[in-house]
Amino acid sequence: LAESLHVFRRFPLQDVRGIPLMEPIAQQWGLIESFQARPDDLLIATYPKAGTTWMQEIVDLILARGDTAKACRAPTHIRIPFLEICSPPPVPSGVTQLLNAPSPRVIKTHLPFQLVPKTFWEQGCKVIYVARNAKDNVVSYYFFDRMNQTQPEPGPWPEYLQKFMDEKLAWGSWYDHVRRYWEERHNHRILYVFYEDMKEDLEREITRVATFLEQPLTAEQMAVVVHHSSFEVMRDNPMANYSSIPTAILDQSISPFMRRGEVGDWRNHFTVAQSEAFDTHYRHRMGDAEPHFRTRL
Ligand code: A3P
Repeated sequence: LAESLHVFRRFPLQDVRGIPLMEPIAQQWGLIESFQARPDDLLIATYPKAGTTWMQEIVDLILARGDTAKACRAPTHIRIPFLEICSPPPVPSGVTQLLNAPSPRVIKTHLPFQLVPKTFWEQGCKVIYVARNAKDNVVSYYFFDRMNQTQPEPGPWPEYLQKFMDEKLAWGSWYDHVRRYWEERHNHRILYVFYEDMKEDLEREITRVATFLEQPLTAEQMAVVVHHSSFEVMRDNPMANYSSIPTAILDQSISPFMRRGEVGDWRNHFTVAQSEAFDTHYRHRMGDAEPHFRTRL
């Protein structure tokens, strides 16, 4: 990777079926679209910054039956490859990594429902979807786009917030993303999990995930999973905090990957006027339809 860093830069977004994606992803779209899922693949799907890494850690700890040494065998992105991630050659893409991975595979994606390769649905794969309230989600995304040197320049916060509301950020509309997986959850094997619920009662949500995976945990194993997926432990765990990614890609001196990990941090970043305008637009865009989110606990 070190020798290939020169290929990274802030990539522009390019449309794929109406969804803005980073240029290298759009350019390799054929490969991603024709990806062959296996029946025992598990997909972790999220809008960016909804708690993907947190769920990845939880799932890996559950599958390792609470064996933390096993869960620390490699950094997150190696343990659970990112389906659509594409860098210019020679850096291997998510698809290449997955082709060589033994079953059962756990796979991360940010793709909206309609762009997920159709074999995942044909094979009846299980999917865990994590959703986070829009206000905390956009704040987290803003800080991430400042430090992630492959995403477009976020620019100033007010403009960034507007881009989120205009559904122009990478991976497209948050509104459509959370709603479509919600609507599809009974048509497919989709477990829908809220970030806010995980913050409220982590053990309860881990139990839901373990049950969904048919991997019930003993009390001791559960205690380990809860502890090792806490914000503080993950923040200090080099296998879970993305510190293995070079600064030329993720510059954690600008903003750490494990940044705040709270519900309601948006109040430190939205002005009152921004919050009101956002709420009005939100009601207009989402109506009364589910899913309903909590913006504070
Ligand atoms: P903040 O930027 O609000 O801190 P993703 O993995 O989808 O990129 O999401 C990253 C967000 O999840 C960040 O939010 C990060 O701090 C938060 N996060 C990661 N692990 C967490 C944990 N164990 N507990 C709470 N939040 C966590």
